[in-house]
Amino acid sequence: MSRYKIAVIGGDGTGPEVVAEGLKVLEVTAQKNGFTYESVSYDFGGERYMKTGEILPESAVQELKTFDAIYLGAIGHPDVKPGILEKGILLKLRFDLDQYINLRPVQLYDARFCPIKDKTPEDVDFTVVRENSEGLYKGLGEFQNKGTPDEVAIQVSHNTRKGVERCLRYAFEYTQKYGKKKQLTLCGKTNVLTYAFDLWERAFYELAKEYPDVQTDYAHVDATTMWFVKNPEWFDVIVTDNMFGDIITDLGAMIQGGMGLAAGGNINPNGVSMFEPIGGSAPKYTGKNVINPLAAICALSMLLRQVGEATAGDQVEKSVRKIVTEKLKSLAAGRMGYSTTEIGDLVVANL
Ligand code: IPM
Ligand code: MN
Repeated sequence: MSRYKIAVIGGDGTGPEVVAEGLKVLEVTAQKNGFTYESVSYDFGGERYMKTGEILPESAVQELKTFDAIYLGAIGHPDVKPGILEKGILLKLRFDLDQYINLRPVQLYDARFCPIKDKTPEDVDFTVVRENSEGLYKGLGEFQNKGTPDEVAIQVSHNTRKGVERCLRYAFEYTQKYGKKKQLTLCGKTNVLTYAFDLWERAFYELAKEYPDVQTDYAHVDATTMWFVKNPEWFDVIVTDNMFGDIITDLGAMIQGGMGLAAGGNINPNGVSMFEPIGGSAPKYTGKNVINPLAAICALSMLLRQVGEATAGDQVEKSVRKIVTEKLKSLAAGRMGYSTTEIGDLVVANL
């Protein structure tokens, strides 16, 4: 019988509440699928930082490397200056654990929740493979003459051939395995970012030769946002850099029905991966039992697939889909027709 070690970081705001619902689902799906697990909770986040001044100790990063997966709620606290926790916890974990892929499926479960007229679940069904360890997120740059009228702020997008190639390779393999049309679109900006996306484009078409069954396509990032709204059905798998991936996946979340359903995986294919709802900590809803836990539950379904429990992952996703289509009035906090804990119970009941 497989036994997994899962680290749980509830984090800030509504993070702990949605993760608690995911853990309810995990418990039942483990019984049903005949695996066991040990979960260890960590209290990293704004509260701990304000109490102790500690963000994420180095020892914790080392400890987290011994787990099979990390389940994360949300990072971001209204009383902590923006950037401190995000950089100190979320981005630090992504970088230090070398989670170089951010995998974000965009899937509409029910046409009622799509803001685009006449689009169906068949139309909005694609996956974004976002590079997760380089680009603008590397934090390279400088101020010159700071605070003077001649100030210059430089922020550099850092793209290594190896970093780009491993991301592209993951995307090609993902498309080969899971793509419904076996079509991979590179999203870039080759007409302006003539260093960064020149490298991306060259590497993309060179690698494409190794994957003759994958059909390649290219779209500029601005056009990509237009197609997301106009013709989302054109996409199958999209691969892009860190910054563009960040931006287009928020739009992706909206066309799949909102942050209530959007999940993502920070993946190190050879190490420990971390799964999270991508909607943030939503502090104004904290403790009210009104936030939608389904994004966190979808993140759990991705976690299950990653550790090797694909059947369990599929069952969880199927249960979420059933609740979305048959029960919910809305996917937005407070308007779903059910509380956070009731939705968790419904997912469990449907398993
Ligand atoms: C995300 C978030 C993070 C990012 C922030 C919180 C640093 O927006 O996961 O998309 O920019 O990657
Ligand atoms: Mn984002």
